[in-house]
Amino acid sequence: MQCQQPVRDWLEARAREIGPRGFLIEVGTWCGDTARIMAAHGALVLCVDRFDGRAMGTPGVTFPRWLENVAGAGRIVGVVGDSWDVPALFLDKGFADLVFIDADHSHAAVVRDITAWRPIVKPGGWLCGDDWNMASVRAAVQDTLIKTPEIIGGHGWAVRL
Ligand SMILES: C[S@@+](CC[C@H](N)C(=O)[O-])C[C@H]1O[C@@H](n2cnc3c(N)ncnc32)[C@H](O)[C@@H]1O
Repeated sequence: MQCQQPVRDWLEARAREIGPRGFLIEVGTWCGDTARIMAAHGALVLCVDRFDGRAMGTPGVTFPRWLENVAGAGRIVGVVGDSWDVPALFLDKGFADLVFIDADHSHAAVVRDITAWRPIVKPGGWLCGDDWNMASVRAAVQDTLIKTPEIIGGHGWAVRL
């Protein structure tokens, strides 16, 4: 499922503040609905996903839907693969203004994503994600990052690094 409206509004507000020189990353983009919002103020948005649709019940159609959705929506690029492998592609760390984690919601996967993506966020940037309402996500954030992140509409979580 795409993320809830308060989380989308929060992301849109951060994208507006960050502006067109920013670099935002969505880890788990599915069909790109939230990526469109993240790209609305001109920042470069990187979408990471397996794009196989298996976890979402959309096998075979996820990637074409993503392409259709992001066409004309701004500066959006996609990377196909396992989320925790992608940060290794970057020689530099600490360059992203915001990383939004919304991929596999199991405790182990969220821990792995936070661990892999945290070094990519610049000092003063945002590490955030969806589904704080899920016990597995809450525990993963609290075990690896912070006990009391900012909570957005009961669903989103965010930390300014
Ligand atoms: C909840 S959906 C993302 C929804 C999207 N953020 C939105 O708001 O529209 C989760 C996505 O994460 C992807 N995913 C799950 N585990 C992944 C992993 N380890 N690596 C890459 N993508 C993954 C799934 O393929 C799925 O498209």
